[in-house]
Amino acid sequence: MTALTLSTSSAATVRADAVVVGVAKGAKGVVVAPGAEAVDKAFGGKLAGVLETLGASGAEGEVTKLPAADGLKTPVVLAVGLGDAPAKGDGYAHEALRRAAGSAARALAGSKKAGFALPVEDAEAAAAVSEGALLGAYTFTAFRSNGAGNGKNGKKNDGKSAPLAEVAILGGKPRDKEFKAATERAQALAAEINRARDLINTPSNALNPKSFAAEAQAAAKEFGLKVEVLDEKALKKGGYGGLMGVGQGSEAPPRLVRIAHTHPKANKTLALVGKGITYDSGGISLKPAGHNETMKCDMSGAAAVFAAVVAAARLGLEVNVTGWLALAENMPSGSATRPGDVLTMYSGKTVEVLNTDAEGRLVLADALARASEEEPDAIVDVATLTGAMVLALGHRHFGIMANDEAFRTSIHEIAEEVGEQSWPMPMPEHLRKGMDSPVADIANMGERMGGGLVAGLFLKEFIGEGIPWAHLDIAGPAFHEGSPWGYTPKGGTGSAVRTLVRLAERTAAGDLG
Ligand code: BES
Ligand code: MN
Ligand code: ZN
Repeated sequence: MTALTLSTSSAATVRADAVVVGVAKGAKGVVVAPGAEAVDKAFGGKLAGVLETLGASGAEGEVTKLPAADGLKTPVVLAVGLGDAPAKGDGYAHEALRRAAGSAARALAGSKKAGFALPVEDAEAAAAVSEGALLGAYTFTAFRSNGAGNGKNGKKNDGKSAPLAEVAILGGKPRDKEFKAATERAQALAAEINRARDLINTPSNALNPKSFAAEAQAAAKEFGLKVEVLDEKALKKGGYGGLMGVGQGSEAPPRLVRIAHTHPKANKTLALVGKGITYDSGGISLKPAGHNETMKCDMSGAAAVFAAVVAAARLGLEVNVTGWLALAENMPSGSATRPGDVLTMYSGKTVEVLNTDAEGRLVLADALARASEEEPDAIVDVATLTGAMVLALGHRHFGIMANDEAFRTSIHEIAEEVGEQSWPMPMPEHLRKGMDSPVADIANMGERMGGGLVAGLFLKEFIGEGIPWAHLDIAGPAFHEGSPWGYTPKGGTGSAVRTLVRLAERTAAGDLG
């Protein structure tokens, strides 16, 4: 990953390939953001004017590169747009900084080092710039024959698409404890988000339940977590009818992974449950062409949970965090579950599978029931669960459902705080009867309208009595098909990791329930 340092150099003295400055949209045109004073001075105090002449407006994500003026030690100045300038006396929003740093880092792919002279008055702002830069610099090249920057396949890097190698945060007070801690947290967090992205981007012929479980075992060893893997034999024996029913059509059998961070001083336990369908073909209810090309992303929930648990360990959080990865591949075959089959789930409930493409709720049901047995203080599941949620909220917001309104509100606020977009969704009880089955306790499908909410109501049936639970449907934001923007690359985004980690931190601090 891109290296990050807090530097005492100023924008005028840093030796690098480029210095990054922020520009914003002011009432009377482009304004240069704090942090860039030395660069502005080198341009005779006319940097804003020069940028305007070059066509810059300060709009979010806008990147303008210009040759440096005399007196600077970098050959290039990169001005990145921060959007609207804040009102007098207010600082720049952390998310604006995160996005701008991401756009700048991406535009500097192929460079060795850049100094970031963005406004970092406090440690939190420095952390936001760090996160944005490290996330924006991300590239996924493991499957490029030219090696493009990672050398993983033993081939030479062609240099062009190598990520920016080093980010120096200027004005970042390297000897200040708070700055150090905040940027160290940002580095661990970004590394874990990028781990989730790598897993999501890995095609399904290179990532199946077994190899995903092996990744969890390797990370657990590296960072001192406890890990247990139930293979198909153990799942069958244990009565995990949901995981087995979804996985039985595939040559690659299912797995349930329990990966746990514990802290000796913890007095709360958080259970995180992730949907880990390494490929969702739809099964016998096969998805049509146009709906299956990106379905390697259907393990994004499990990737987010995995990354968040490892982050909790790396940060040494004073809370127990147990991750449950419900891993299966949903394929059609002679051994696959048929529409109309009845599964007996881990909880003992029976489910009539009306549509084998509603598989996420089946694997989650088993994992949620198993997680409930340990009576955690709260459960949060994360899943690319429904196309309906994408229709409702689009590609940038995830939906939040919960059996506890206060918990739902807390998660919404936490997401907002860490710069993730989300929206609370209702759980209307009247939709439950749509899932009544003539043969089983419940069907895995109900009314088409409000399909995201129906899925949430299904999951609710498998939560242990009295446990606060929230469900994050990340089907929209998990995988980005459009052009990169801010710190969001094409492909896996790592959606929900920041929210989960901050939730763990808040739980550790005793801020919740
Ligand atoms: N993995 C899909 C949901 C999905 C859709 C994720 C688009 C990401 C992008 C899920 O397993 C699914 O197929 N859901 C069905 C449920 C339906 C059959 C009740 C859906 O949403 O159409
Ligand atoms: Mn499906
Ligand atoms: Zn799915």
